[in-house]
Amino acid sequence: MTGLDITRIDALEILDCRGEPTVQVELEVADEIVVRADVPAGRSTGANEATELRDGENRYGGKGVREAVKSVIEEIGPRVVGMDVTRQRDIDRAMIELDGTIDKSRLGANAVVGVSLAAARGAATALDLPLYRYINVNAHVLPVPLVNLINGGRHASNDLDFQEFCIFPVGAETFAEAMEIAFVVNSVLREIIVRHYGKIAANVGDEGGFAPPIVSVREAMDRLAEAVQRSGFADKIVFGLDCAATHLFDRASRTYGLEGRRLAADRLLEFYKGLIKSYPIATIEDPFAEDDVEGFVAATRELGIQVVGDDFFCTDPARLRQRLPLGAANALLWKVNQIGTLSEAMDAADIALRSRCGVMVSERSGETEDAIIADLVVGLNAGQIKTGAPVRGERTAKYNRLLRIERELGPAARYAGRDYRVR
Ligand code: PGA
Ligand code: ZN
Repeated sequence: MTGLDITRIDALEILDCRGEPTVQVELEVADEIVVRADVPAGRSTGANEATELRDGENRYGGKGVREAVKSVIEEIGPRVVGMDVTRQRDIDRAMIELDGTIDKSRLGANAVVGVSLAAARGAATALDLPLYRYINVNAHVLPVPLVNLINGGRHASNDLDFQEFCIFPVGAETFAEAMEIAFVVNSVLREIIVRHYGKIAANVGDEGGFAPPIVSVREAMDRLAEAVQRSGFADKIVFGLDCAATHLFDRASRTYGLEGRRLAADRLLEFYKGLIKSYPIATIEDPFAEDDVEGFVAATRELGIQVVGDDFFCTDPARLRQRLPLGAANALLWKVNQIGTLSEAMDAADIALRSRCGVMVSERSGETEDAIIADLVVGLNAGQIKTGAPVRGERTAKYNRLLRIERELGPAARYAGRDYRVR
């Protein structure tokens, strides 16, 4: 034994922020260090994501994860106990081989990713290093948060077609200042929303943004722009959208549903151009459906802003290798559980950064209190993070960890600011 061997692995069915079951992995190193990692879950998922294992029986409406817990305890445990916890790629590869499917559906991506993340955390803890530094000795960039203040799509019970309307405080000097700005804009926005739609409209969606009864994208943008104006921070803020257009797309007619109309891809592109003219939008995610490569190429060529692929890439190195050279998208939304292991996700980030493609680290809509993405975004020096509104514990857990990291780094810390893309 090296003192870094995995000595025990366990798992438990816990609840995510929507109250739905998810997997928590517990991993022990050298008989003494115990760490845990919680697995997040998406709701507006891409068809090509690694597949989580759900029990499908009556309990929890079919969403139980006892089978995934069993995968960890009965299959992954016996395979990886005894391995050196710092051998991340070996651990991940062992799980991929043990699973044997292309989408990790036999063991469950929710089982595999839990062990993968717990291993990274266990290694860092055993070496007495913060996780971001374990990942990268040069970790020092604090990300610009893409703060999601109005929720629509599958994340809210309103009829707003786009999923996320965000502010991006690129003009802040520090991450702490970015959070202060986010607080002020969010507070002003609450007043504006209550004034226009009544106090019940100030309830929030899955990622903590307001979910007012708005149908028009421009109306949502106007409210947000007014909040930014009145906050006094307009010179420090640009905007971002996640259209999650996979979920607006109708395969039969090859059109996108927007505000009660059906638009072909070229009309949707015109709609985006109009929006970008009216508002200082710097980043747009999934403007077209997950397999609409042509749409992505056109958006990347013609919008002149950051075009982020979420469902479009699924954090999959193979999809990045295939699609980036076509000029489709110029940033990757990076979600470890979309691909299922940390080392594959690191490969995806590596391909992106080498191709001068931005990397935005992201939460899922179904999060837990686990803040691991805060360490990962700093470890990657990625420069941008999307982790919801500045409210609700599962969102603030990440923001709070970033505030802590900024202080820990002291003078070495650098807020990405307007350099949020490739450095
Ligand atoms: P999801 O949404 O976690 O529900 O997939 C997040 C996103 O689309 O970015
Ligand atoms: Zn998305």
